Amino acid sequence: MKRALPDLTVDQPAAGEKVTLVLHADGKQYDLPVLGGTHGPKVIDVRRLYAETGYLTYDPGFMSTANCDSALTFIDGERGILLHRGYAIEDLAAHADFLEVCYLLLYGKLPTQSELGDFGHVIGHHNMVHEQFRRFFEGFRRDAPPMAVMVGTVGALSAFYHDQIDITDTEARMVATHRLVAKMPTICAMAFQYSRGQPFLYPRNDLGYVPNFLRMAFGVPVEEYVVNPVLERAINRFLVLHADHEQNASTSTVRIAGSSRANPYACVAAGIAALWGPDHGGANEAVVNMLEEIGSKDRIPLYIKRAKDRSDPFRLTGFGHRVYKNYDPRAAILRESCHEVLGELGKKDEPLFELALELERIALDDDYFVQRKLFPNVDFYSGIMLRAIGFPTTMFPPLFALARTIGWIAQWKEMIEAPDQHIARPRQRYTGHPIRPYVPLAER
Ligand code: SDX
Repeated sequence: MKRALPDLTVDQPAAGEKVTLVLHADGKQYDLPVLGGTHGPKVIDVRRLYAETGYLTYDPGFMSTANCDSALTFIDGERGILLHRGYAIEDLAAHADFLEVCYLLLYGKLPTQSELGDFGHVIGHHNMVHEQFRRFFEGFRRDAPPMAVMVGTVGALSAFYHDQIDITDTEARMVATHRLVAKMPTICAMAFQYSRGQPFLYPRNDLGYVPNFLRMAFGVPVEEYVVNPVLERAINRFLVLHADHEQNASTSTVRIAGSSRANPYACVAAGIAALWGPDHGGANEAVVNMLEEIGSKDRIPLYIKRAKDRSDPFRLTGFGHRVYKNYDPRAAILRESCHEVLGELGKKDEPLFELALELERIALDDDYFVQRKLFPNVDFYSGIMLRAIGFPTTMFPPLFALARTIGWIAQWKEMIEAPDQHIARPRQRYTGHPIRPYVPLAER
């Protein structure tokens, strides 16, 4: 049955709609144009503000700032809606293969069967890494955080393709996107195998994207790896749900790095670094660590109390979001995925999942969380599912990076191809020492 689509039409700005700024310093008035998009808030165009008024806007953390046009993803935070190129995340998670979503983000439309086949063939023929590349891993201790390994090795890709990447060339840009989408599962699986002292497996082109990844991550050379279709579907859904998410911290990092026309592989490595933080993609690992620290349902009130205490740095990780002021639609889907995977693996009574469900129930019944519109986000349930599948907590951020690579590189490509592309260079409010004369050393 087709899902009813919510009405997202917005009132477009009237012709010539503007905001008038009155400067009290001189009483002058300045008209700032108002622009509208397909969905979402109208924007006040302040691009001429400094040139005309000498004033800067001030918005640390970009709470109220749109820093680009993008056609890839739309989030309605109040209503908990997430679209990729107009398609609802619920539909894509339920019906789309991850490579379909990659194609959609890169080319702007869902592929036909033959287009998807051709795309899969191209990706399948870029999934190996240079033989020399394998030696980068040996420089890391086996117990190095796999996310540190990902930052280092993905950054190293720029050394292998530096002379071949002319980002002004359409074909070169598309090859770079294909290479990154194709090689990330291989690199992510290598980081996991290396951390366990297991040998690396080469990808196989008779397997699809997700089965290939699962085999490289969990397989051993001495026997055939049998893909569990329930786990394959769960990982496919995990990748679809994490693919792209507007201008989040790591995507903004990739865009800013790319705006200087840096090597796209190095830009994605910068994105991995930004994603690693526990307030961003590192939250999935922090959630499981938090649940293990809470340990039992009777200790939940203590941690809820700590989360509400401003003098206590503890936060209920996996809760809250800059944009979603409603339930993160991805969290709801991942909660269902948890049920499915735990059931398949005979872990229906997984204590951590029971604890998470109870924590969510209590928190969403507490004024502190309700008033601040703090709901579970994408990271709240994902780790429980990944751990049940066999990944350690340290592999959760790398898996997020694997999924988000398509978002990062599609946003990078959109930024490079934008007609008015400039280097990103925010200004600041200077709060340092007033100008003063140099004092010679002998006089200090
Ligand atoms: C991701 O941007 C994206 O799209 C990111 C992401 C993606 O797909 O790319 O969706 C992935 O990063 C999800 C978020 C994962 N991070 C966490 O789960 C970490 C815990 N969450 C918080 O750190 C926080 O909610 C953020 C960082 C996610 C958002 O922070 P904001 O928007 O800057 O909000 P804030 O910190 O100003 O919080 C507003 C209020 C504050 O209280 P008051 O000062 O008003 O009294 O809510 C409180 C905060 O103290 N608060 C929390 C809380 N999150 C916010 N209190 C307790 N527990 C929390 N988790």
